[in-house]
Amino acid sequence: MAIIGHDIDIAKEFLLKGELVAIPTETVYGLAGNALNDSAVISIFEVKNRPSFDPLIIHTDSLEKVENYVSEFPEKAKLLANKFWPGPLTLLLPKKQIIPDLVTSGLNNVAVRVPNHPLLLALLRSLPFPIAAPSANPFGYISPTNAQHVNAQLGDKIPYILDGGESDVGIESTILGFENGEAIVYRLGGLAIEDIENVIGKVQLMPHSSSNPKAPGMLKSHYAPRKPLYLEKRETFSVNEDKLTGYLVFDQYIEGIDLKYQRILSKSGDTKEAAHNLFAYLRELDASPVEQIRAEHVPMHGLGPAINDRLQRAAAKE
Ligand code: TXA
Ligand code: MG
Repeated sequence: MAIIGHDIDIAKEFLLKGELVAIPTETVYGLAGNALNDSAVISIFEVKNRPSFDPLIIHTDSLEKVENYVSEFPEKAKLLANKFWPGPLTLLLPKKQIIPDLVTSGLNNVAVRVPNHPLLLALLRSLPFPIAAPSANPFGYISPTNAQHVNAQLGDKIPYILDGGESDVGIESTILGFENGEAIVYRLGGLAIEDIENVIGKVQLMPHSSSNPKAPGMLKSHYAPRKPLYLEKRETFSVNEDKLTGYLVFDQYIEGIDLKYQRILSKSGDTKEAAHNLFAYLRELDASPVEQIRAEHVPMHGLGPAINDRLQRAAAKE
């Protein structure tokens, strides 16, 4: 198993040697390596068992540093970066030569973000390079939101997990790019669309596709627990299941079902709290004795659309 600790100097040493470490972010934990080092980047794909056509996000600690890695920074992107960085927003921008093609899977754009986590920001400030970091889960499984989640799945493949506590936001960053000056959201995530639209006006949403060359990572089946997950209307939940069933509900327990098989995302109906709990609860239900999981949709405001997106993809069958 990996060593779990709070020491950014140890994390830095491994990264300087081209090795990988897990890092905390405010969204989910990442599997980090030197983004400018081809062999570190290759290791990331190997450890995650991730196909090489699915590009990586690079992380650094300031907008000024991001400018070293991108060749254009449109006005709307600047407005968003100034407002929401550090934070759960990833921008797709034309890359400079210095970013290896391996990071972007050969695409012209690189995904960049400045994450909002004090320990990680301190680490990033001390590094002479940006780090590439996908979520620190095996490809296709639920993203980790604490150090123990990472250790359970990748602990035997990496030397060190930088422990920054539980991820505050709990779901991955919102990914936004541009086409002919128009802003397009490629992945719903931890920054609500309303917040983005308050700054730059209406944005388009890119529907998911498993064969979209523009966003090769937007695969439909993703974030999936091992147990089958059914996303349904609450009214169809039955207390007479023949299989032992776990329930993931939004703000109200289901009457007549043992509480130990239920997880409530937010008693007060807050979509931020629901996002914070989502992946941890899915993991708990997945690790429990239940044979299947039934989840209900959450309301479509705030982080609701991003939560429903994760649930839909968790439920999708390939
Ligand atoms: O919150 C997050 O974004 C977390 C933390 C660790 O920062 N990272 C994360 O990375 O979710 P990952 O690799 O699990 O998801 C990144 C997504 C993938 O679906 C990938 O296809 C897409 O971003 N992506 C990365 N670079 C891209 C590019 N150049 N063009 C289009 N999509 C890109
Ligand atoms: Mg991921």
